[in-house]
Amino acid sequence: MEEEEQPRRGPHFVGKKEELIEAKRTLITVGGRDILVLHHQGVFYALDCYCYHSGGNLQNGDIEELGSRLCITCPKHKYKISLAEGEGMFKGTDPTVKPPVAKWYTKGVKQRVHAVTETNGDVYITLSDDRCYIESDYYQGEVGKERRAKA
Ligand code: FES
Repeated sequence: MEEEEQPRRGPHFVGKKEELIEAKRTLITVGGRDILVLHHQGVFYALDCYCYHSGGNLQNGDIEELGSRLCITCPKHKYKISLAEGEGMFKGTDPTVKPPVAKWYTKGVKQRVHAVTETNGDVYITLSDDRCYIESDYYQGEVGKERRAKA
């Protein structure tokens, strides 16, 4: 059995803060994992680059606030993902509330997010060490990447 590439633990240098702000969105690969680092409204976020639903590339997704969470919209089928938590978001109504009012709800964490830190103008990410399977993990593995390439 082939051993999977294990990324080094701890922070990984992404780039200079000013350059990343100017770029707004940067794709980096750490330990075989493709990660989107983005800067929006003064905050850096890092999340798996491929959408948990079907591997869509989030790099060009629009960002908007939904139900008090900043979310990125996957360009492929328009799923919404919160930037800070990686939650899948959906709009629904509570049938017990009359008249029904549509609100944004969470489906729970679907997209793996990573910590971003800054030191002396340098930006680093630390990969999430949450051992639970998160749906976006699929598209970071060999099978998922192959499937993405064929889609
Ligand atoms: Fe992202 Fe379907 S692949 S919404």
